[in-house]
Amino acid sequence: MILVTGATGEVGRAVVDSLLAQGIPVRATSRDPARARLPDGVEVVAADLGDASAVAAAVSGVDGVFLLTGGSEIPLHDKTVATAAASAGVQRIVKLSSGRAGDDTATDPIPQWHRAGERAVRESGVPWIMLRPMGFMSNALMWAGSIREQGAVFAPYAAGRVTVIDPLDIAAVAAIALTSTPTGQILTLSGPEALSPGEQVDIIASVLGRPLRFVEVTPDAARAAIISHGVAPSMADAIMALRATALEDFTSVVHPTVPEITGRPAGAFRDWVARNRAAFA
Ligand SMILES: NC(=O)c1ccc[n+]([C@@H]2O[C@H](COP(=O)([O-])OP(=O)(O)OC[C@H]3O[C@@H](n4cnc5c(N)ncnc54)[C@H](OP(=O)(O)O)[C@@H]3O)[C@@H](O)[C@H]2O)c1
Repeated sequence: MILVTGATGEVGRAVVDSLLAQGIPVRATSRDPARARLPDGVEVVAADLGDASAVAAAVSGVDGVFLLTGGSEIPLHDKTVATAAASAGVQRIVKLSSGRAGDDTATDPIPQWHRAGERAVRESGVPWIMLRPMGFMSNALMWAGSIREQGAVFAPYAAGRVTVIDPLDIAAVAAIALTSTPTGQILTLSGPEALSPGEQVDIIASVLGRPLRFVEVTPDAARAAIISHGVAPSMADAIMALRATALEDFTSVVHPTVPEITGRPAGAFRDWVARNRAAFA
């Protein structure tokens, strides 16, 4: 049995599906199991990862944990789960970290939260694998509203290029890492090519079969837009600091890890858009 935290989110849900496809029993945490909408057969348990006793119950009897945490609570939640997992005799933790955690020059909050979380996992004594993905292709979903309503995308850092990765590839690697990959490894994961936001918009336009405008906006305007969607100002600052790093070479490196682990090429952005066409159309 594998425990998946963050199972109702973008990557966690895909990890659940990948494990079920391999016939592996899954337990999943959600703060609200009634709204989790996970597949039949998944044992859904109510747990906020800040609640140590709920976490202890969730890890009881599992062989491995897919550890997905988010925001400024990453260090605390990773520590809570890793400590409980060690007490319960869990055999491995696969933590979803961040590609930027591997860039020693990155001192903005998100890589720092993940580095602290990774440290807590390593110090727990439970055998571990860290997954460090680059930016998710699914981040493009935040453009869906303006694409539908204005035929346009407004984004900062037009020159920044990121080897964006399909969340399904992260999940495919995670499912293998949870069962057979030797532990003690850091796996840096990327998609097959580095794309600027403008290049991503061109690909979306080509899949939709209609022209789209790309408009570069200032970082301040982008920050204000994030806050207008209900994100706290401190988190908006952390997101903007991460986005600024797209201007560096670090984010445009193609890593061979997805093909090496899964035995097939990493998914292309065009294929991700085709699969998610309805969101933009
Ligand atoms: N987006 C990127 O480009 C990128 C790149 C690299 C790394 N990452 C990392 O990927 C992770 C986010 O993955 P994602 O986008 O798949 O997540 P997501 O879709 O935002 O989902 C977040 C999940 O966390 C759960 N959750 C939130 N607060 C919780 C709490 N207090 N206790 C228990 N569960 C809680 C939610 O479940 P319920 O609501 O059901 O409780 C939900 O399933 C972050 O660690 C991020 O740093 C992201």
